[in-house]
Amino acid sequence: MQLDGKIAVITGAGSGIGCAVASAFGQEGARVAVVDIDSARAEHTAEVIRSAGGIALDIAADVSDAMSVERMAGVIHEKLGAVNILVNNAAIQVNKLIEATSPEEWTRQMSVNVGGAFLCSRIFLPNLRQTRGVILNISSVNGFFAEYACAGYCATKGAILAFTKALAIDHGREGIRVHAICPGYINSGLAENYFNAQPDPEKARKEAGKLHALGRIGEPSEVAKAAVFLAGKDASFMTGSALIIDGGFSAGLPPK
Ligand SMILES: NC(=O)c1ccc[n+]([C@@H]2O[C@H](COP(=O)([O-])OP(=O)(O)OC[C@H]3O[C@@H](n4cnc5c(N)ncnc54)[C@H](O)[C@@H]3O)[C@@H](O)[C@H]2O)c1
Repeated sequence: MQLDGKIAVITGAGSGIGCAVASAFGQEGARVAVVDIDSARAEHTAEVIRSAGGIALDIAADVSDAMSVERMAGVIHEKLGAVNILVNNAAIQVNKLIEATSPEEWTRQMSVNVGGAFLCSRIFLPNLRQTRGVILNISSVNGFFAEYACAGYCATKGAILAFTKALAIDHGREGIRVHAICPGYINSGLAENYFNAQPDPEKARKEAGKLHALGRIGEPSEVAKAAVFLAGKDASFMTGSALIIDGGFSAGLPPK
């Protein structure tokens, strides 16, 4: 087991990629704190991990809220102990042109996607210094490869890439590794919301698949496998880098 005895916190773990990462970590022997703003979702993921024989604690918290993050970290410290792995995964996506985006939508998206990574990293850094731990930030190909009508989301994912490099520099000497993962379209919540907002969701899903060299969108479990690798000791000489898991989406234009 690659993460035996480790304590991991995954934000936004009630759904999609976060749920898959939490489950994979549980299978690899980690004790998992499943954090989500939606308590029912967090409970569900924790139950999935427990029924597979793992150890999981579900916690409802809003990563954009400093008080909520502080409470969440307190519960984790008390019930599980010092954290080895933090996965900043929680995010929302506003699919609008900038003129149609309200200041409130812009601020909320920034607060969850970037502010959440800041607040969670800040609160767990003392722990991670102690355990010589790992921070894993879920960015996106949209951090360096833009798509139509999601400029605010692209800005948050680009910020996460810069944040990853900066944290890696600041804390490398303390033995803390910091990674980013950049998925292409993945069969989970944010992509699903986007497809469902299109006039023909099934057509939109097929068209998205065709944008990838491999001719399909990815599965959350395919991201989770890379997360296990980056969080484990096999990635011991990696930090400050971004792993692209996108089926060739950002490599170029595939044939029609
Ligand atoms: N799905 C994709 O195609 C795709 C592609 C590239 C990157 N990503 C990234 O992967 C991550 C997960 O995406 P997903 O599609 O699995 O999303 P999802 O919507 O399936 O899951 C996100 C979870 O985060 C939770 N959440 C939202 N706001 C929160 C908050 N303030 N505090 C705590 N939890 C909160 C939601 O309740 C939800 O359970 C995101 O960072 C996203 O940007 C997704």
